[in-house]
Amino acid sequence: MSHDEFPTDRPAVVTCGLPYANGDLHVGHLRTYVDGDALSRALRRIGQQTAFVCGSDMHGTPVAVNAAEEGVEPREFALRYHEAYAETFPQFNVEFDNYGHTDDETNTELTQEFVRSWVENDHVFEKEIEVAWDTEQDQPLPDRFVEGTCPYCGEQARGDECDEGCQRHLEPGEIEDPVSTITGNPAEYRTREHKFLRLSDFQEYLQGFLDRVEGTDNAKNQPREWIEGELQDLCITRDMDWGIDYPGDEGETEDLVLYVWVDAPIEYVASTKQYTERVGADTYDWEDVWKLDGEARHGTDWDESWTDDGGEIIHVIGRDIIQHHAVFWPSMLRGAGYNEPRSILATGFVGIDGNALSTSRNRAVWADEYLDAGFHPDLFRYYIATGAGLETDVDFSWDRFQERVNGELVGNVGNFIYRSLLFAERNYGGTPEADVSDDVRERIEESLDEFEEAVRAYDVRTLAEVATDLSNYGNEYIQRNEPWNLVDDDPDRAEQVIRDCVQLAKAVAVVMQPVLPGKAERLWGQLSEEGSVADVSLDTALEAPPASFEEPEELFTQVEDDHIEDLNEELQERIEEASEESEDGNEEAADADDDDDEAATADLEPLVEERIGFEDFEGIDMRVGEIVSAEPVPDADKLLRLEVDIGHEVRQVVAGLAQLHEIDDLPGTRVILLANMEKADLFGIESNGMVLAAGDEADLLTTHEDAPLGTRVQ
Ligand code: MSP
Ligand code: ZN
Repeated sequence: MSHDEFPTDRPAVVTCGLPYANGDLHVGHLRTYVDGDALSRALRRIGQQTAFVCGSDMHGTPVAVNAAEEGVEPREFALRYHEAYAETFPQFNVEFDNYGHTDDETNTELTQEFVRSWVENDHVFEKEIEVAWDTEQDQPLPDRFVEGTCPYCGEQARGDECDEGCQRHLEPGEIEDPVSTITGNPAEYRTREHKFLRLSDFQEYLQGFLDRVEGTDNAKNQPREWIEGELQDLCITRDMDWGIDYPGDEGETEDLVLYVWVDAPIEYVASTKQYTERVGADTYDWEDVWKLDGEARHGTDWDESWTDDGGEIIHVIGRDIIQHHAVFWPSMLRGAGYNEPRSILATGFVGIDGNALSTSRNRAVWADEYLDAGFHPDLFRYYIATGAGLETDVDFSWDRFQERVNGELVGNVGNFIYRSLLFAERNYGGTPEADVSDDVRERIEESLDEFEEAVRAYDVRTLAEVATDLSNYGNEYIQRNEPWNLVDDDPDRAEQVIRDCVQLAKAVAVVMQPVLPGKAERLWGQLSEEGSVADVSLDTALEAPPASFEEPEELFTQVEDDHIEDLNEELQERIEEASEESEDGNEEAADADDDDDEAATADLEPLVEERIGFEDFEGIDMRVGEIVSAEPVPDADKLLRLEVDIGHEVRQVVAGLAQLHEIDDLPGTRVILLANMEKADLFGIESNGMVLAAGDEADLLTTHEDAPLGTRVQ
């Protein structure tokens, strides 16, 4: 089935990936919130009833670990960040209708209700599993308390995710060669009872869901591979104190809390519910959105059209959490009889100089840093939401920021608006009396159509381009018609031209509002329009502006070179410090506080005590090889597809080298290949062997003389 076109007669909710309440926000996080905010404003603009909700993600091991390090209670620690976020978002004109947190009562109750539903619907079972254990501390090591090797791609992985390699979610017990992040010692595996959500119950359902779901290609396609084989069940409990209690019988599960990825997405629902509690169900009813026919519906006999009963659920996230939103979350909803997401928009990542942002290494441009620099929030919004398509990874660069603001906002939009309104005010005291010309009216109508189409395609970049294109047209129009030369010779014509320009300025305000809400509001005021530009419909762009308004002020100011130089210098220093630190390898082993996507540089890994015999070594077939070609793997920024010549044959290997080596330097490089490594499937590509490398920077192992290709390493 396909979804109705926006605007529909059902309410929509736009949600953003919840920020972990364990560190400062950086420009990477902000991409999720700016895109989500712009999209929700744009949906409203075309007449779609829309709530925009989010909340802080308070639970999970990183919070527990960091709080313990600081010697404060996790709740207190997380609340501090929660409050800071709630203050930061509005400063970027990110205005949620409700901003809750996962540890509040609404979410706690709702989460336990979800779990009870799954139990009732027979989707939960208990199983004994091996969990990593710190023998020195005599405690279990959930998630981020353990580091090791990803069993799927062999990259260094932390806790519950392979963030360096294949990006997969990792279940407890899966990580290989586990090391405790508390003591740095190798961890043991011990048997514990845990609760599982039987994801395989939803396998068929998910196939259909992925056919229906809208959004970015990465979110629609990547999950297909993950659900191809039998779906691995999801362990939904953890041996921890910090979290929402598993709602089991007394005594049975008292040491267990729910896994953070259980209660986190449920906050989307809880936050919407809180919004309804505030504005009343007559204004916006969360149940119409999240439930089917107004109630949670159980059973499995839903037909294809079942999504028709609920509202339009739109999730905006970064590409690192696609699996959680496109596989786990729909199953969780379905298992409790709730509505499913209509769309999942997964944005590309933001990095710096080709490197990932790193919270713990201070390699980031911070939200506060931007605000302290004194730039208007809309400039950042424009820069981050429109530099590239939604799915593309981008680098944050102050130079590029300056270039785009000065060129596109100051030079194009600001310039057109200022000269039009100034001319209008000086000569006519406001909007001249003429009618808008047909050409200009048609041009505006075209923009409004483009705008509507862009919203329907969730294309935030195009939304903003509609405004800049229209203002570009305005600039050309005024330049071509030279009204300043017409005032005396042909006053009627001059009036006509300026009338057109003021209309264009008004239309620019209407279409630029989702991405540049503060600036649009200011322009609205300059036109002496009543009320807020946020509340008008798209067609208002064609209504006549007020006959009189005051002399305008410039809407945008130039970003100065000095300012950018200073910011660049600061950032450069910080990046250098960050890389020196990682070269020293002097970070704490218990570096569980970074929520970036770089492996923590632990102290030297402890030597493996257990000895192996020569026969074991002989079982490892390592060969001298030469990389003959290297190319990126679509949708996986870190992976390269290599062809390695090992004498006997040329092997295809997928390796996590993309961000650590120049792709063009690789062909011709001699490497050592583990030739009898189990084959693996990475992003749909078979990897037949493993290239050996040392450390976080993937220093490639090689030979130093001229051993022929295929020579065995022994
Ligand atoms: N708490 C989870 C999300 C739970 S949703 C039920 C989480 N938190 S986070 O703080 O790590 O990230 C918050 C949002 O920012 C997510 O949408 C995430 O994908 C996004 N990003 C985090 N770092 C990012 C970049 N460097 N670049 C782009 N987006 C990034 O994930
Ligand atoms: Zn992996």
